[in-house]
Amino acid sequence: MIGRRRWISALVGAFATMTALGCSSGGGSGAAASGTGTGAAPAVEMKEWKVGAYLSLSGGDAEFGIQTREGIELFVEELNAKGGVKGKPMKVLFEDDKSNPQEANNKVLQLIDRDKVIAILGEVASSRSKPGGIVANKKKVPMITPSSTNADVTKVGPFVFRVCFVDDFQGQAGAQFAVTKLGKKKAAILYASDDLYSSGLAKEFREEAKKLGAEVVIEKSFLQTETNFTTYVNEIKDSKPDVIYAPVYYRHMAPIAKQAKAAGVSADMFVGGDGWDGMAPEDRVNMEGAYQTTHYASDDPSERVQDFVKRYKAKFSREPSALAANGYDAAGVLADAIKRAKADTPEGIRDAIAETKDYPGVTGNTTIDPDRNAKKQIVIVQFKDGNHKFHSTVAPK
Ligand code: PHE
Repeated sequence: MIGRRRWISALVGAFATMTALGCSSGGGSGAAASGTGTGAAPAVEMKEWKVGAYLSLSGGDAEFGIQTREGIELFVEELNAKGGVKGKPMKVLFEDDKSNPQEANNKVLQLIDRDKVIAILGEVASSRSKPGGIVANKKKVPMITPSSTNADVTKVGPFVFRVCFVDDFQGQAGAQFAVTKLGKKKAAILYASDDLYSSGLAKEFREEAKKLGAEVVIEKSFLQTETNFTTYVNEIKDSKPDVIYAPVYYRHMAPIAKQAKAAGVSADMFVGGDGWDGMAPEDRVNMEGAYQTTHYASDDPSERVQDFVKRYKAKFSREPSALAANGYDAAGVLADAIKRAKADTPEGIRDAIAETKDYPGVTGNTTIDPDRNAKKQIVIVQFKDGNHKFHSTVAPK
């Protein structure tokens, strides 16, 4: 027994040594390979514009990432077919952060340190764009979030931008729509207390609804890990609101709508924000009549939207969501900035993004303001027959 154990431990020791040697020699030769060549900085011999995208391609918010990636892919394919930017194609390296803020942080670091990207696209969820943005900003590589609306995200520093509106505007627009347009006077609010986006939007709505003379009769918050909302729904029902504002993500709204229906609360009581985007068709049937503020509607009759819808459908065989449209436009704003940049460096591109004015995208025109936010219109949609139907727009403020 003793002999055998000693033999095993000797073998394990030898193996560990070999592995350690293998690792260090592999790492060494890799570093040597990238250090040889012309000896000049890699940026000089750039054959393509290498861009990093970090997204939730799996995990709880997978649809956010997948649909955004599709929008980016369509833009890049069309751009490269037209010859790219300044004669070079754009190449996007996609990384999956698994819907996890710590992974978002790691992926941005990897894209910058390992892959040497010149700019970053992502994330969708504000709670991941913020940590990712902190890294990009520290490393002085520009980042554009397609869809993160929480105010904090672009406050991390001069390298972080967004091509969408901010939640003070979205929350106010939601309250104005519910109170002034729909004439609701007794509001309930249901949100995720441990999520930056959800709690931020709840606050904006609460303040504006009160200002407009509505009463908030009940507020219920939950943690993101929760899946059963029946108790909250019943308590809300008992306090007899005439509207329920639920600024939550689709992964929570889908079960909320289902459980509300079972509890006898009809879906047309609900008003929500852009976070509902990404919901599967089988869940959308429980949303009939609900209203949502978002970035774009695929049935917007304007030519630029309809043309985009046609091209996207041809490639992906489904309607492009607001996530896809924002992804498409974020890549577009970046390509436009690379074209205008005075220096082909992350700093040069940063400066050009900051000067973006009236970039014509599928979600409207993008102008970046001094706080690195976009002044964009809000689109209000209503769920009808399991689909989003364009209702109205709110002009940028
Ligand atoms: N605005 C949301 C956030 O900041 C993300 C989102 C945008 C989700 C668009 C769906 C559609 O977290």
